[in-house]
Amino acid sequence: MNFSTWMSGVQQRTESALEAALPAAALSPVRLHEAMRYSVLGGGKRVRPLLCHAAGAIFGASAGAIDAAAVAVELIHAYSLVHDDLPCMDDDVLRRGKPTCHVEFDEATALLAGDALQTLAFHTLSQRMAGIAPARQLEMLHLLSVASGSRGMAGGQAIDLAAVGQQLSIGELEFMHIHKTGALIRAAVLLGAHCGEAVPDDLERLGHFANRIGLLFQVVDDILDAEASTATLGKTAGKDAAQNKPTYVNILGAGEAKTMAGKLRQDAHDTLAPFGEVAMRLHEITDFIVERTF
Ligand code: IPE
Ligand code: IPE
Ligand code: MG
Ligand code: MG
Ligand code: MG
Repeated sequence: MNFSTWMSGVQQRTESALEAALPAAALSPVRLHEAMRYSVLGGGKRVRPLLCHAAGAIFGASAGAIDAAAVAVELIHAYSLVHDDLPCMDDDVLRRGKPTCHVEFDEATALLAGDALQTLAFHTLSQRMAGIAPARQLEMLHLLSVASGSRGMAGGQAIDLAAVGQQLSIGELEFMHIHKTGALIRAAVLLGAHCGEAVPDDLERLGHFANRIGLLFQVVDDILDAEASTATLGKTAGKDAAQNKPTYVNILGAGEAKTMAGKLRQDAHDTLAPFGEVAMRLHEITDFIVERTF
């Protein structure tokens, strides 16, 4: 099966799993549930679920178990985007080609939708998972909570906001990116692997791989922000420069940022090499992260 067919399959099953995990729109409080569904369903590349499935498949995980992990990490991601777009953060009006949650609904509803998506992620991951020992599931919950909180994504977002207008060093920039974006990407890979029989050596190698593609993902996001159009991105282009955000593009220039992306991509492939053929989908996702247009 070629990559694009595999990718559509995972995207479709993720959509169904998300749909099943989300409260029905008719359920009270209707406006909150509508806002949650609006922010999650029918859009997004689903890169984190793709990573869960690709990593899980290496270790013989069942697709059903991976679905729960994929839903959990995608719900955290969706919540992070709803909050990232709020006026007190990036103040964005467009996301996935639609008005952002607070524009379509209102700020308070967007805040609550983000909160509720976050708790729904942990609700989903804490439900009985067939074939996963409770101790392992507890480890997965621990992993996702650290990746989402002040030592992960939320911490990275705090650094991002504090860094507006500052001249960060490359090391500081890398620290910020690894947290705000890398942490959830890493969680996606490791959660997938935890659904199967990965041993500590595998997890360590995958962790290194995930650190590379997590950073790569945000470097490419920064390049696209500077170079792609709003129509292609489905979000407002040129925001980083307009808001004086430190990014690889703003600090190094687009050329150097692309060189850096090339190095990270190669490092990611090299890290996977010892896994051989079974890691093919992870190699393909690495290339997709670089070659994507939005
Ligand atoms: C955008 O993430 C925000 C970042 C972490 C850079 P994605 O590019 O994965 O957004 P969707 O889910 O495909 O819309
Ligand atoms: C967002 O980074 C990272 C998280 C949401 C955690 P950006 O602010 O660059 O994401 P976009 O460009 O708005 O999608
Ligand atoms: Mg942001
Ligand atoms: Mg943003
Ligand atoms: Mg961005």
